[in-house]
Amino acid sequence: MKWTHANIPDQHGRVAVITGANSGIGLEAARELAGKGATVVLACRTESKALAAMADIRTSYPDARLEFHALDLASQKKVRASAAALKARHPRIDLLINNAGVMWLEQGLTEDGFEQQFGTNHLGHFTFTLLLRDCFAHVEGARVVSVSSLAHRGGRIHFDNPTLAGEYGRHKAYCQSKLANLMFALELNRHLAADGAKAISVACHPGGSNTNLVEPGIASQARFGFGTLTRFFWGMFTQSASKGALPTLYAATAPSVGGGDYYGPDGPFEAIGYPKPAFIRRYASDTELGAKFWALSEQLTGMNWTTK
Ligand SMILES: NC(=O)c1ccc[n+]([C@@H]2O[C@H](COP(=O)([O-])OP(=O)(O)OC[C@H]3O[C@@H](n4cnc5c(N)ncnc54)[C@H](OP(=O)(O)O)[C@@H]3O)[C@@H](O)[C@H]2O)c1
Repeated sequence: MKWTHANIPDQHGRVAVITGANSGIGLEAARELAGKGATVVLACRTESKALAAMADIRTSYPDARLEFHALDLASQKKVRASAAALKARHPRIDLLINNAGVMWLEQGLTEDGFEQQFGTNHLGHFTFTLLLRDCFAHVEGARVVSVSSLAHRGGRIHFDNPTLAGEYGRHKAYCQSKLANLMFALELNRHLAADGAKAISVACHPGGSNTNLVEPGIASQARFGFGTLTRFFWGMFTQSASKGALPTLYAATAPSVGGGDYYGPDGPFEAIGYPKPAFIRRYASDTELGAKFWALSEQLTGMNWTTK
């Protein structure tokens, strides 16, 4: 039997923090978790968009418990401030869904000098998660869910050149960042397990889903007159954001999920469909590479798991 929104267990009394919850997969995950009774914190960079998303969710679930929390993952300083404020407000977090992401951006650096996609999609979440660790690590049933992508299969971590200076490609940078999300999820689970934590870390991907993620790609295609065509094909071959959110919701709530699991759609090429265990490339699950990647993330962000 296919797992759908109807299978999400009751979430009353639980606090779910979702990054990038104003749009696409994050919005649909927020809607369904709120519908099942969770208090959902929409951790977003633009308050007006988060408020509009909250109004939208309330059209589905008028009694939804929703909060906006400011978070800009492209700035380590803002991530740190955001985590400190969130910790003060919610000392217990049951679900942290690291969902926010950008794709196919033109070459550029964050204010910290990181390549934008790697800096936002991975390093922002890395710092945010480590700073919130005390809120979830020892909570029974707590989970950290990282949203990766089929694109993880095409990437590698450029350990000596993570900014891709002199070799930038928008797809290359996106693939590196989504591989990073998956490697982070797996390595975080190893760290939590080694600490004897109650929380687990899992990952998922939405296949191809019709969201705003593709907009930078459409903008670049538009320069060559292909913008409308790209939008048309993206809409035609992808599933709805609501269906794309199912692997996230499964990873976050299904009782059978274990630490280090990875879920995606069950259709052809894992592009569309209902949640099932997804393919993890050997590069992503390699423990030596995972440890090296964790050390790189610590070095770049100045974070440290052992001292916190
Ligand atoms: N859609 C797909 O086919 C697909 C496939 C594979 C993986 N994914 C992954 O799914 C996740 C969700 O993407 P989506 O498809 O739902 O795209 P989306 O509709 O564009 O949503 C992305 C969300 O991330 C937020 N975000 C971007 N930069 C941010 C920053 N610096 N700080 C905080 N939030 C930021 C966006 O905020 P704004 O609205 O303010 O920009 C938005 O809320 C991403 O991790 C993406 O890589 C998607």
